[in-house]
Amino acid sequence: MDRIDLIRQEINQVLDAIPSPEVSRVASLHIYGVSQLCTLLASRRGLPVELAVIAGLLHDIYRYTAMTGKEHAHKGAGMAKKIMEDLGCFTPEEIEAVAGAIYYHSDKETRHLPLDEVLKDADVLQRVLYDPSYIMSGKEKRRMQRINEELGLRL
Ligand SMILES: [Fe+2]
Repeated sequence: MDRIDLIRQEINQVLDAIPSPEVSRVASLHIYGVSQLCTLLASRRGLPVELAVIAGLLHDIYRYTAMTGKEHAHKGAGMAKKIMEDLGCFTPEEIEAVAGAIYYHSDKETRHLPLDEVLKDADVLQRVLYDPSYIMSGKEKRRMQRINEELGLRL
C-alpha cells in the first residue's frame, strides 16, 4: 500500500464516522476535491505532489472529527503530525511540511510557503467548483482572482 493509501484509510475512518449522511457526503467531496486540486496545483507549480495530496486529505481532519471549525487548522496540524509519525513512513521534514500547510490553511490572507499556498488555493477552489454561486469572503475573492489568472479561469 502506498503512503497516500495509508492516509486515505485514516481520513476515511473519520468521514465514515460522521453521523449525518448529508454532512458525510459533502465532507467527502470537499476532502477528495481538495486533495485532487492539490495534485493539480502542486504539479503545475513544481512542488512535491504526494505531500500536497496528503495535506489535502488531512487538512480538515479536526473539523470532521470534532465537528467544529473553531481552531481546526491548528488542532488539525497536531492530529496530522501524530498520524504521520505513527505510520512511521515519513521523514521529520515531510511531516513538518504537511503539518505546516495544515496549520496555516485558514489564514487565507497571508502568504506562506509554496506548499501552504497550494493547500489554501485548493481549499478555496474546491468550494467554488462545488458551488459556483458560493459567496466568497473578501480574502477568498482576492485569492480566487489569483487562481483565475494562473489557471485561465473566470470563476
Ligand atoms: Fe477545507
